[in-house]
Amino acid sequence: MDEQPSLYGKNPINNISKIRIHHLQKMKEQNQKWVMLTSYDMYTAAIFEAADIPVLLVGDSASNNVFGYDTSLPVTVDELIPLVRAVTRSTQRPLIIADLPFGSYQGSVEQCFSTAVRFIKEGGAQAVKLEGGIEMVPQVEKLVSSGIPVMAHIGFTPQAEHQLGGYKVQGKDDDGQQLIEAAKAFELAGAFALLIEMVPAKVGEAITNAVEIPTVGIGAGNSCDAQVLVWQDMAGLRNGRLPRFVKQYADMNKLLLEAAKAFTADVVNGDFPSEDHNF
Ligand code: KIV
Repeated sequence: MDEQPSLYGKNPINNISKIRIHHLQKMKEQNQKWVMLTSYDMYTAAIFEAADIPVLLVGDSASNNVFGYDTSLPVTVDELIPLVRAVTRSTQRPLIIADLPFGSYQGSVEQCFSTAVRFIKEGGAQAVKLEGGIEMVPQVEKLVSSGIPVMAHIGFTPQAEHQLGGYKVQGKDDDGQQLIEAAKAFELAGAFALLIEMVPAKVGEAITNAVEIPTVGIGAGNSCDAQVLVWQDMAGLRNGRLPRFVKQYADMNKLLLEAAKAFTADVVNGDFPSEDHNF
């Protein structure tokens, strides 16, 4: 792929060969926004690295974007680890975060620690993400004190969709007070960043202003320090009804559909393989 000039202009991560959590902290301190994308395989990981994306998340969204499940709940640690390994093997510069799937860390601090260690040792991840509120503070403290960087996911937490009564904007009733408290507690526990999902933009702003660590928004307004999207949403591979917070930057669904149809037509018409492709 051709060398592209940095999209970030002059900033703390130019010329950094490996993004680390302190670089993201510096970005916040210097008011420089950044981007995170999900990735689950070698080609997208390499493309996103070439696009200067500093952070890749191997999300539990692989559940309903790779494995064909309906929600993020069914995916297992054993299913996710090979995807994490694929992404870490195919990239050098981005910080790779592994998502801890439902049921693999909520049980106890010890369970959380063992799961996170598997993602670090077997997957090669450099950080993990977990969902929840202040009840997850002991888990975060244990990981951080063991040398594992943690991104805490607050607001709408898809793993708790049944408890939350479906896909609903969070933090509306109390102007986000509870979320702000959770954000501060996670910061105190040592989380290096917060992911904030589906809250009113003013709540995203209030949380971002309430903590020193970077916030990564998805449906949380423009004041967050960074933004994340699931790559299949961002690039238009997924079709059907999309969440309001998604902006599509390409129509990969159409592109692939047309390519597959053109291939079929060529074969059916006897135009492929041609002399050029013969041995
Ligand atoms: O797993 C995931 O894709 C997420 C999104 C909110 C980015 O956590």
